[in-house]
Amino acid sequence: MRYGHFDDKRREYVISRPDTPLPWINYLGCEDYFGIISHTAGGYSFYRDARLRRLTRYRYNNVPFDTGGRYIYLRDNVDGSFWSPSWQPTRHAVEDYSCRHGMGYSIIGSTFHHIKAETLYFVPLGENLEIWRLLITNLRRKPARLSVFSCIEFCLWDAQDDATNFQRNFSTGEVEIDRGVIYHKTEYRERRNHFAYFACSVKPAGYDTQRDTFLGPYRNWDRPVVVERGRSANSRAHGWAPIGSHHVRVNLKAGEIREIVFVLGYHENSDDRKFTRAGSQTINKVTVKPTIARYLKHNAVERAYTELGRHWDRLLGVYQAKTPDRHTDRMINIWNAYQCMATFNMSRSASFYESGIGRGLGFRDSNQDLLGFVQMVPERARERILDLAATQLVTGGAYHQYQPLTKRGNNDIGSNFNDDPLWLVLGVAAYLKETGDWAILDEPVPYDNQPGSARPLYEHLERSIQYTLDRLGPHGLPLIGRADWNDCLNLNCFSDTPGQSFQTTTNKDGKTAESVFIGGMFVLAANELAAIAGRRGSEINAQGYREAALKMSATVGTSGWDGAWFLRAYDDFGNKVGSNECVEGKIFIEPQGFCIIAGIGLENGRAGMALDSVNRHLATTHGIMLQQPAFSQYYLHLGEISSYPPGYKENAGIFCHNNPWIMIAETMVGHGDRAFDYYRLINPSAREKLVALHRCEPYVYAQMIAGKDAPTHGEAKNSWLTGTAAWNYVAITQHILGIRPTYEGLMVAPVIPAAWKGFSAIRMFKGVRYNILVKRRGRGNKVHLSVEGRKVDGNVIPPPPRGTTTVAVVAVLD
Ligand code: BGC
Ligand code: NOJ
Repeated sequence: MRYGHFDDKRREYVISRPDTPLPWINYLGCEDYFGIISHTAGGYSFYRDARLRRLTRYRYNNVPFDTGGRYIYLRDNVDGSFWSPSWQPTRHAVEDYSCRHGMGYSIIGSTFHHIKAETLYFVPLGENLEIWRLLITNLRRKPARLSVFSCIEFCLWDAQDDATNFQRNFSTGEVEIDRGVIYHKTEYRERRNHFAYFACSVKPAGYDTQRDTFLGPYRNWDRPVVVERGRSANSRAHGWAPIGSHHVRVNLKAGEIREIVFVLGYHENSDDRKFTRAGSQTINKVTVKPTIARYLKHNAVERAYTELGRHWDRLLGVYQAKTPDRHTDRMINIWNAYQCMATFNMSRSASFYESGIGRGLGFRDSNQDLLGFVQMVPERARERILDLAATQLVTGGAYHQYQPLTKRGNNDIGSNFNDDPLWLVLGVAAYLKETGDWAILDEPVPYDNQPGSARPLYEHLERSIQYTLDRLGPHGLPLIGRADWNDCLNLNCFSDTPGQSFQTTTNKDGKTAESVFIGGMFVLAANELAAIAGRRGSEINAQGYREAALKMSATVGTSGWDGAWFLRAYDDFGNKVGSNECVEGKIFIEPQGFCIIAGIGLENGRAGMALDSVNRHLATTHGIMLQQPAFSQYYLHLGEISSYPPGYKENAGIFCHNNPWIMIAETMVGHGDRAFDYYRLINPSAREKLVALHRCEPYVYAQMIAGKDAPTHGEAKNSWLTGTAAWNYVAITQHILGIRPTYEGLMVAPVIPAAWKGFSAIRMFKGVRYNILVKRRGRGNKVHLSVEGRKVDGNVIPPPPRGTTTVAVVAVLD
């Protein structure tokens, strides 16, 4: 079974059947206005914050799946038949259905009764609005008399409240209709200065803004009475559920094409210009009308669409590779980079699996996401780093999450995830290597956003390291707190009450349970900070951090090694977790990855041993599982990890996020073949042929693929918003292809499969374009570098003279 194919030239995935196993989505928007769009036009839009400024309504976990969207109905006014060109919501047997998910846009269309209709959806750069450009073609030999009905359902802004507080919501909805433009202004009368608008390029024959009127009693979106009847009711919403629907009549000659543009947007007025005049309750539309008028015009739409394409040329042009494997090329050059930008924009907030209500932006998540997008948008990475650091606490700890709109730490979840602060060091180090912007370290940044508390960013990093040192356990390993990277290994939780949050329940004093994973991470982060300190001229500090790293490394060596792999943790009783002594959960992936990335075990052969153990106990044909054996029952002292049935999520699922840690570790011991094999196993494009099993989108990574203990081994879940995007990008581009930024210059250190004859890549780095050709001579990984025809010692390209725009590099592998 095939649902579509890649069109690499156009950088699109083309879905050719609407009945995909799950909604296959895409994202619209790059700056402040965003939308999720499924391949059948489902989804919703929001301004900056999916919870607090949601424009349209979406019904998660609803049947049929994927309800609520950017719907267009077509109706034949002669015989009264009607259908949806995007298949949903009417689900007629349309012909030639296709959805092209591209870079920041989707084009969805089909043909029905010889009427072809196709809608391009996108958000113009720099605007808080989305365009739907509908093209209708009459393929009949005779004229067609048609009606078009648009429809969206407005969300009453706060998505949480919208889904819960009906006693109020059913009485607050308000709209205005002004020359065919529908304005949604619920709560505008009081504390909101924003409103939404929905406009149409053709003067509509009618409109509707009341859901019940549009649908008719006890009807669903597949059979709205207004569409069936072919005439809008011109309903005006007073309370209940406001919607926006236009009715446009279109008469087409044989072969004629018509374009209709719909614009859905968000606008804010200042306090003093909120209403038309003092005492009025009418929205002042002076500032928004010109924008609406502009985007209802063909040329403006065309221009904005072209600009969006150029924007993506620039972003993707930062790293382009040509390797012997087309799945690798496709992911590096298009989809993996694209997914990294989605995680930059959304963190874990709004997807088909994340409601946009709960999570906000994760501290550790955003720092890791940064590793995958910093090369594309360094200035925005800078802003993100400063925002994140401003949610750090004076203790050096960090709020686990923050709300993007307010940029404040999220009190519901709070702090005490003891790995969190260390990710900031890794994020900043990546930023510095990419940009050389050392000035960022002197930027004053507050703690917990408290006025007057600002200290240089560098000091935040110092406190991050100190935070771990202040919290060491009985073996000298870092105390785990609520959890480390694995949110579900809750060693201080001991929860026996249904519904309690595993994330925040803490029944133990936290003085015993230790994390070997944080131990490894600490070694890496302390060494990174040492390198930064040294470059800032503080050799004494650098020395101190190096020593702290060495000491922790030794501690991991004595108390964190289990004989054939790294231990995972010590629990609240001081017992081992992730040890051969355990009955279940004997070996975990995370410490094998991170300890080796930190360099632990490279000198004494333990790294190789641990990786062999991973291969033996954790690797499957669908990727590497998180741990084995899976937990067969709930363990009070381990927490959420054992709440999942075996094979899912953190309980022995293939948690794709940390597969690349093993790939990187494999490159560190020189195993290009194994690193690449692991890379291929979870590469979404390579898994396209398994789609019936995989089920998620074949163009982006999913958080999880069910492990071997699950009845659905190989099935993916939680696509799009996952740290998997950044880490796989880092693993393939920086470690397998080996092109990575360092303080000294761009490094070329490929660890590729033995059978590869080489590859070429283009990397933009600090404004210079590097054309890199890698050729294999022997079977090893030793690099002989020549730059502009001259031999260079080592594997780092020295920075070229000022003004150089292009540098030619050849690396021969021996
Ligand atoms: C999931 C984790 C996630 C956590 C926090 C858990 O249920 O399994 O992957 O990080 O919730 O939302
Ligand atoms: C998803 C969370 O967003 C991430 O922070 C965490 O590391 C993983 N789950 C593993 O639990």
